[in-house]
Amino acid sequence: MKILLLGKNGQVGWELQRSLAPLGEVLALDRYSTPHCGDLSQPEQLAQTVLSFKPDFIVNAAAHTAVDKAESEPELARLLNVQAPAALAQAAAQVGAWLVHYSTDYVFDGSGNHARQEGEGTGPLSVYGQTKLDGERAIVASDCKYLIFRTSWVYAARGGNFAKTMLRLAQDREKLTVINDQHGAPTGAELIADVTAHAIRRLVNTQNIALGGLYHLVASGETTWHAYANHVIEHGKRLSPALDWKVTEVAAVPTSAFPTPATRPLNSRLCNTKLQQAFGLVLPPWQQGVNRMLAEIL
Ligand SMILES: NC(=O)c1ccc[n+]([C@@H]2O[C@H](COP(=O)([O-])OP(=O)(O)OC[C@H]3O[C@@H](n4cnc5c(N)ncnc54)[C@H](OP(=O)(O)O)[C@@H]3O)[C@@H](O)[C@H]2O)c1
Repeated sequence: MKILLLGKNGQVGWELQRSLAPLGEVLALDRYSTPHCGDLSQPEQLAQTVLSFKPDFIVNAAAHTAVDKAESEPELARLLNVQAPAALAQAAAQVGAWLVHYSTDYVFDGSGNHARQEGEGTGPLSVYGQTKLDGERAIVASDCKYLIFRTSWVYAARGGNFAKTMLRLAQDREKLTVINDQHGAPTGAELIADVTAHAIRRLVNTQNIALGGLYHLVASGETTWHAYANHVIEHGKRLSPALDWKVTEVAAVPTSAFPTPATRPLNSRLCNTKLQQAFGLVLPPWQQGVNRMLAEIL
């Protein structure tokens, strides 16, 4: 089996390099790769990569993910998040490949307090959310076989992340201030990559094209950034009591206390039942992956 992986050095892409390796021959690219083009800003050359490599699966972990920056560079966000996936989908249809693509809770408007299912109405609040939604639509409108995984609040042990920032600040300051009115599930890049590999294996073994479609791939349970920060600090203290913990208070504030160029949804809860049932998988509670990451970095 041949797999083309795009965005190999991102949070999810890095973990996919690990999880996809046992499945077959993986051509892993980033935006600088040659001779095969892996640059999302070059949709035609990207399509050429697909046509020449003729993969069985394309896994696209690359995207314009800078949510606030996208507000001031909407054309670039559209090129990377809409035109590139559209070109990949067309090329995938030509060679008969599956396209596995990632999307986001930011396609929703964040109203209410329930966990949204895949078929519910969208209403992006930001350029990033709108372009990710239009990217989904371009793939769905194409003739290719596809899996689109919407995920949320992604973290990885590699690189910077919210948990690491909280750990650092907790050793720098006595008081932290964290938003408590956005709700969602922190989801590890490891989990996303592992589920992707399991889903690909299931598709190959069953040859069941009906398994294709749109799924919510998030850890189970829910939290707020404020409760997430408290969890990270409390668990961090248990793991490494000898560190110089200065923090004595984690204050809860509304989103309005930290104005940003892009508006974020308050309700990012995604229902993951469809994915668990379709692929016979269990998506563990968010704390499991976060605790594991903390044990690795502390
Ligand atoms: N992060 C989240 O919280 C989150 C939440 C929901 C959904 N998602 C979705 O999950 C997927 C994976 O996200 P992630 O967290 O792994 O993001 P990430 O760590 O920001 O990785 C994105 C990757 O895309 C690459 N990229 C940017 N412009 C490119 C271009 N022109 N050509 C090729 N590659 C390019 C980046 O490369 P450079 O490093 O060279 O810039 C980076 O490696 C994305 O589709 C994202 O929309 C993420």
